[in-house]
Amino acid sequence: MTVYFYPQIDSTNIRARNMAEQGAESGSVIWALEQSAGRGRLGKKWSSISGKGLYASFILRPKLDFSEYAKSSLVAAVAVARLLKKDLGVDSAMAQLALKWPNDVFIGDKKIAGILAEAIPPGSCDSAPCIIVGIGLNVFHTPTDFPAEIQSQATSLLIEIGKGFNLEILLEKLRKQLLTCFESFEDGNFPELLDEWRSMDYLFGKKTECVDVHSKVISGVALGPDKNGILLLRDSNGQHHEILSGDLRLAGKRQESR
Ligand code: BTN
Repeated sequence: MTVYFYPQIDSTNIRARNMAEQGAESGSVIWALEQSAGRGRLGKKWSSISGKGLYASFILRPKLDFSEYAKSSLVAAVAVARLLKKDLGVDSAMAQLALKWPNDVFIGDKKIAGILAEAIPPGSCDSAPCIIVGIGLNVFHTPTDFPAEIQSQATSLLIEIGKGFNLEILLEKLRKQLLTCFESFEDGNFPELLDEWRSMDYLFGKKTECVDVHSKVISGVALGPDKNGILLLRDSNGQHHEILSGDLRLAGKRQESR
């Protein structure tokens, strides 16, 4: 399993996709110190200042039916949570770790990491199907390192626990957690991984708004992900809505893109 390192790149996810299409093996990692076009979910940008964060994309080819790949974001979020809790000791009454559906990692009310999972379906290129799991973790950021519009919503390891970590060591620990979680996923343990995810659910029981790609808003109380990882919202009429994608926010809270 190879780590491909770049001091500077457009986006590790873009590079990972190219490499995956050319047959790169499962477990390959693309890691950059800086991204000029770091990408987030729903077409947002991921600010990627040199050396401040961990910016990495993992090429994974789980031996599962391709329909299962949609659950990868939740599996990856569990891996990041284990990294933060078990390897780095980030979780206490002062700074509670939480996961916001589908794949944001929060400490308290602020986002510390984001995950962009992109699937390459069977038949779209010569190589086997694949999921690219791109992870951005804020490590050495001070508040002013974040774009002004997200300063109140973003945090880093340095801000939360007063220290950063060597990025190469972090990457290795993250790789191990991710491979362990994906092996478990392959072995049929998604229900257990989902339970772990649910134990950290940031939105559960809260009034939530989902803004879809057409700017349509669905409001309701978040009931957490169902057994397939699809988020359920219960609106004021008691009707359940299945959320497959979209921008989620607590009701009444404005959310900026990065
Ligand atoms: C999000 O929160 O919207 C997802 C952010 C994902 C950012 C990471 S950084 C490494 C990888 N390369 C990218 O261009 N994006 C992901």
